This record gives sequence, C-alpha cells and structure tokens, in this order.
Amino acid sequence: MAEAGEKHVRAVDVASSPAASSAAARPVRGEDCPSAGAARHVDGGTGTPALEARDLTLSWDGEHIVVQGVSVDVAPGEVCCLVGRSGCGKTTILHALAGLTTPVSGHVLLHGEDVTGRPGRVSYMLQKDLLLPSRRIIDNVCLPLVLASAKKAEARAKAAPLFERFGLAGCELKWPSELSGGMRQRAAFLRTYLMGADVTLLDEPFSALDALTRTDVRRWFVGVAAELGLSALVITHDVDEAVSMASRIYVLAGAPSAGEPSHVAGVVEVSRVESEHFELTDEYLAAKRQVMALLG
Ligand SMILES: Nc1ncnc2c1ncn2[C@@H]1O[C@H](COP(=O)(O)OP(=O)(O)OP(=O)(O)O)[C@@H](O)[C@H]1O
Ligand SMILES: [Mg+2]
Repeated sequence: MAEAGEKHVRAVDVASSPAASSAAARPVRGEDCPSAGAARHVDGGTGTPALEARDLTLSWDGEHIVVQGVSVDVAPGEVCCLVGRSGCGKTTILHALAGLTTPVSGHVLLHGEDVTGRPGRVSYMLQKDLLLPSRRIIDNVCLPLVLASAKKAEARAKAAPLFERFGLAGCELKWPSELSGGMRQRAAFLRTYLMGADVTLLDEPFSALDALTRTDVRRWFVGVAAELGLSALVITHDVDEAVSMASRIYVLAGAPSAGEPSHVAGVVEVSRVESEHFELTDEYLAAKRQVMALLG
C-alpha cells in the first residue's frame, strides 16, 4: 500500500506503450495520480498479499524511531526489493518482518494472517549470514532442519536432492573454504530455503560477491525463485541489484541517526523486458533513474 506523500511510479510499461522510452519517465501513480493510496499488490486468486507490512513504526530502544509508517506488499510469487542508503533502517525492517522484533506500531501479515512479533513464519537470510567453517556444506544447509529437531540423516536426505538445482552438485561434503563466493552464497540460500516458508527475506545477499559473479547469482536467484514459487523481499543498498531483480522497488529515505526516521519515499514498478542484457535497455535505465531520484 502506498503511503501519503509516497510516490508510486511505473518505470516502464512496455506492453501498454509502444513509445516505451517516453512512458518510462512518466509517473502513472503518485502525487500526479489520485489512486496512489489504493495501490496494492495481491494474488489474483485470493486477493491477499503473501507478505504485508502495514504502517510499521520501529525502534530499537523504544525511544528513537528508526522507521516510521512503512508499508510494503509482496504478492505471491513476486520478487520485490527494498532499497535505501546505509543506516536508513533496512535491516531493522527485516527483523520486524521476520518476527524477531516487535514494532512500536503497525502489523506484519503473511497471507493475511497477523504474525506481528512471531518468529519462525518466514525464511530469512541475515546480512552476515555466514556458513559455519567447521561444518561440511551439507551440514551447513541442513542446519534449519536439525534445529527443528530432524535427525542428521533425515535432514541430509531431504537436502541432498536440492544440491543440483542450487548449482552445488558434488559439493555436499566440501568445507565452506573450498567453495567460491558464488557457491557459498547459493549454499546460504539453500539453507534459507530449507527453513521451509514460501516467503523469503534476504538482507544484502550478494554484496560480498564480485560484479560478474553477482550478476550471475542474481539471475540465478530470480530463475530459482520463479521455479520454486517463492515470494521474496530482497534488501539492498545497490540500485542496480534492485532494478535487475525486482518487479517492484520500495525506496526508503531518511537518516535515523540524525533524528530523521526513514519512510518509503516511493515505489518504482519495473516491467521486465526479455533481453539478454536487461541492464543495457532503456527500460532498465529509466527505472534506475527513478530510484536514484527518490533516494535523493
Ligand atoms: N541492534 C541494534 N540496536 C540498536 N540500534 C541499532 C541496532 N541495529 C541497528 N541500529 C540502528 O538503527 C539504524 C538503522 O540500522 P540498520 O542496520 O537497520 O540500517 P541498514 O539500512 O540495514 O544499514 P546497512 O545498509 O549499513 O546494513 C542505525 O541508526 C543503527 O545504528
Ligand atoms: Mg543492513
């Protein structure tokens, strides 16, 4: 749902506009459009978002507000991004969405059920979610199953068939130090997937990778999320990452450390066009321009 004062713009709607490049710069929802407050992103079947943050206000100490009035929807099977500068409160929001903290006010809903402050309902990968160096890859990825009381052999049997799909065939018995950065990231994502929820939150998942690997892993992630039917919110400060992965980007602005709580400054919708190099298209650049303008 869009907030008051929040711009909601579509970067490009190629399908509805043959003149894509001129449409690209035109907001279709937002201050110029009276329907901004009505924008919701829902499952066509049930009409309910997979994940909904409703008017979240968050604080770590109950005194200093970090984010104020943030609303985010992720439809079933959709990949959205939340973009903002370092320190603006992205991880703070993820903690609340994962039920690891309780908001000062507002609600978190999963498929319409209020799960505010209740952990264990979404799968998530934290910003510094490293693999344990002393465990083999298979045992690293099995960790959520073992923590949920599965026997080690059972957990391994469940995880093993997924190694190929996650590009990790033959790596089961390796140690984390024997894998490339991209492979370690895919292993961390497989571990997240084995948490078992259909809604996944990822905090800066690819930031430690070099540029080329990052591009490959992002593409791989979008493909695998579609194949597995995941609904995902990817948190990042990297505008290119957001535009290359998301169908919708929530742009967070503010400076909580300076006493200015963050809020959603706008929502950019990205119509993805089939292209071997989407990042070189007018559509991509238009979306990037809009996100950067909202970041200020
Ligand atoms: N555990 C914590 N206890 C107290 N304050 C915190 C805690 N974690 C974050 N903060 C504060 O909340 C604000 C937002 O931090 P947060 O980690 O959410 O930002 P971020 O957008 O994720 O930044 P980055 O891009 O650098 O990861 C900062 O002012 C930070 O100092
Ligand atoms: Mg963070």
